[in-house]
Parts: sequence; structure tokens; C-alpha cells
Amino acid sequence: MAILITGGAGYIGSHTAAQLLAQGEEIVILDNFSNSKPEVLDAIRTLTGRDFPFYQADLLDEGQLEQVFQENAIHTVIHFAGLKAVGESVAKPLLYYHNNLTGTLNLCRAMERHGCFSLVFSSSATVYYLGCNTAPFREDFPLGSTNPYGMTKVYIEQILTDLAASDSRWRIALMRYFNPIGAHPSGLLGEDPNGIPNNLLPYIAKVALGELPCLKVYGDDYDTPDGTGIRDYIHVCDLAQGHICALDYLKDNPGAHPINLGSGKGYSVLEVADAFERASGVKIPRVIAPRRDGDIARSYADASLAKEILHWEARRGIDEMCRDAWNYTLLHRQQN
Ligand code: NAD
Ligand code: UD1
Repeated sequence: MAILITGGAGYIGSHTAAQLLAQGEEIVILDNFSNSKPEVLDAIRTLTGRDFPFYQADLLDEGQLEQVFQENAIHTVIHFAGLKAVGESVAKPLLYYHNNLTGTLNLCRAMERHGCFSLVFSSSATVYYLGCNTAPFREDFPLGSTNPYGMTKVYIEQILTDLAASDSRWRIALMRYFNPIGAHPSGLLGEDPNGIPNNLLPYIAKVALGELPCLKVYGDDYDTPDGTGIRDYIHVCDLAQGHICALDYLKDNPGAHPINLGSGKGYSVLEVADAFERASGVKIPRVIAPRRDGDIARSYADASLAKEILHWEARRGIDEMCRDAWNYTLLHRQQN
């Protein structure tokens, strides 16, 4: 019996795969490499000393999905596969709705056909980005988003909630990630976006490498202590561990369960830039730029539910997150 990891070659999926293998679990990875590279699979094998079946397959291809379920006894799925670039989703909403929604529907249908009813889904704190919600965000807040990417998460959560209500065999965790950053301490796994990064940490890392001239701080006139946006950053290894705790929780808990995975603590853009300077020893020049469309002033979790029901909380602080991100950046640059 094995756990299927969709999107397991990606940033969060690869860390979760490595952690599951290290804990002795059997896994199968499925990925179409639309936003990842085959080398990641070798890194997971090197790190853990273990092998696993891999399928270069697309969730939009039902035949390929069927083959994965026929050839493996899958008891649980952790579903990371999806497109996630906010700006691209605004430009290409059909691509995002098709990939993320149809991909999830195909997956759930394949699971049902094969009697597999345990699912951990990657949602996002972006489902809280509504004018009426103020941080700390709690799981029972109303949901909505400022962009098609975020709406795919809102719609998928609704579909999975309806599914769980229709059949008590379904056990589904809706994991609302805050801002995952950092890398595996070995430096073998991490985040490596193509082109100019949209997210703060990968952007700062490129500034530290000298590949970009300076950090553009998107707005210094928010209602926050230093005027810059506040986010709840969480180490990707803590996040991976949260999934493993969710697998345990689902064993005894049917239904659909939204759960925040965040630290409950917020850092401003300037505080993160300062932490990265401490970790790297490199100065990060900054310029103030206009606010970015769709951004909000503060996003951080009420992390109490995960603590109560999963017995999980984020352990690693911002300095460790920046240290591991920098370590990965340096090692990865030297390899390329
Ligand atoms: P990622 O892009 O690194 O990983 C996603 C993986 O899914 C990639 O390897 C990609 O090739 C694969 N994929 C995409 N569509 C596919 C399809 N149709 N069939 C097969 N494979 C497909 O992203 P990540 O940062 O690891 O995020 C994982 C999940 O977590 C995503 O669903 C994302 O929306 C969600 N999430 C991420 C963040 C974040 O900041 N990284 C925050 C909140 C939620
Ligand atoms: C973004 C996405 C969100 C997604 C999340 C995690 C948008 C509008 N939102 O959120 O849907 O769930 O990533 O993947 O894109 N910043 C700068 N300069 C930069 C980059 C970022 O000042 O070059 C600031 C932002 O304004 C924000 C903070 O840094 O205040 C964090 O930004 P980012 O890493 O993009 O994450 P989110 O804005 O939380």
C-alpha cells in the first residue's frame, strides 16, 4: 500500500516525499514537470537512500491516472499538483481553472473507482483574501480571493467539502498554507522558480546572488508598524511535517477539514530582508515601489486548530528559514 503524491517533483511535494520516505512510508510520485525538473527525483533518492515508482503523467489525462491506480495499491493521496502563479492566472484563467479544477476532478474520480477515499489537498491562505477578513485568519472565516488562482482553491475546497458530505467514506484535509519558504537543510531540495521570481524570498535570494539589482518593496504605506506588508512565513520542512500529521488525523476523522498551516507570527517585508542579510552576510539594497495589485496589508494564521487536532506547530524561525534558503541557493548555483 502506498501514498500517491501528485506534484511530488515540485517545491513542497519534494520535501514531503523525502520526509515520508525517511519515515519508512511507501510512496508513488506523479508529475508532468510543467513546473519542476526530473533531477529533483534523484535528489529525493540521494537524500533518503530509497527508491519509489514515478509516473511522468498529467492529471488532465484520465488514462494515465487510471494506469497509476491500476499498477499501485494507493490508500491515500497528497495532492500538490496545480498551477500557482497569481499573475499568470489573471492572464490565463481558463488554463488555471482547467488544470486545477479538472485535474482535481479527474483525480477524485480515479480515487473513487479504486476505493481510495483519503485525500490531503494543498489549499492556500489566499482563500482568506477578502475585505471583511482581518488577520489572524481562522478556518471558519468566509472565503474568496482576488485572482483566478485563489478562486481555484476556493472552488476546489467547496467541491471536496460537497464530496465528503455525499459519502462518509471520504476523509479530506484542506491544508491552507501561509507563506512556505526555506529549503531542506542538506541544500539538495528547494525552490527554483523560472525567470524573475514573483514571491519575496526567491526574489531576495536573486538580489543576494547579484542577479537582480535590488529588492522592490511593494508599498511602505500599509497600516503596519514599518508600513510594509506582513506575512506568516513557514519553513517548508515544517509544512511537510504538517502533512504527515494530517495523514494520521484522517485515519479516525471522516469529513472535510480545513486546517491552517502557518506559524501564527507575521514578519514585514523589511524584517525578512534584514533576516536574509543576517543569514547570507550580503547586503540587500531596497527601493520602495507602488503597492502590488491584489496584496493585503497583513496575512497570518490563527494556528491553534492545527496544534489542537494535528498536534503540530511550526518549529523553525525566520533565521533558519533564510539560512536554509541561502544554503540551497548557493549550492544550486554552483551546480548549474
Ligand atoms: P510547484 O509548482 O513547485 O509544484 C507543483 C507541481 O505540480 C509541479 O512539479 C508541477 O510540474 C506539477 N503539476 C502541475 N500541474 C500538473 C498536472 N496537471 N499534472 C501533473 N502534475 C502537475 O508548487 P509548490 O510551491 O510545491 O505548491 C504545491 C501546491 O501548494 C500547489 O497546489 C500550490 O497552489 C499550493 N500552495 C503553494 C504555496 C507556495 O507558496 N508555494 C502557497 C499556498 C499553496
Ligand atoms: C502571494 C500570492 C498568494 C499566494 C502566496 C504564496 C499575490 C497577490 N499573492 O502572496 O496568492 O498564496 O504568494 O505563494 O501574488 N513583496 C515585495 N517585493 C517583491 C515580492 C513581494 O515587497 O518583490 C512583498 C509583497 O507585497 C508581500 C510580501 O512581500 O507583502 C510577500 O509576498 P509574496 O511572497 O509574493 O507572498 P504573498 O503576497 O503572501
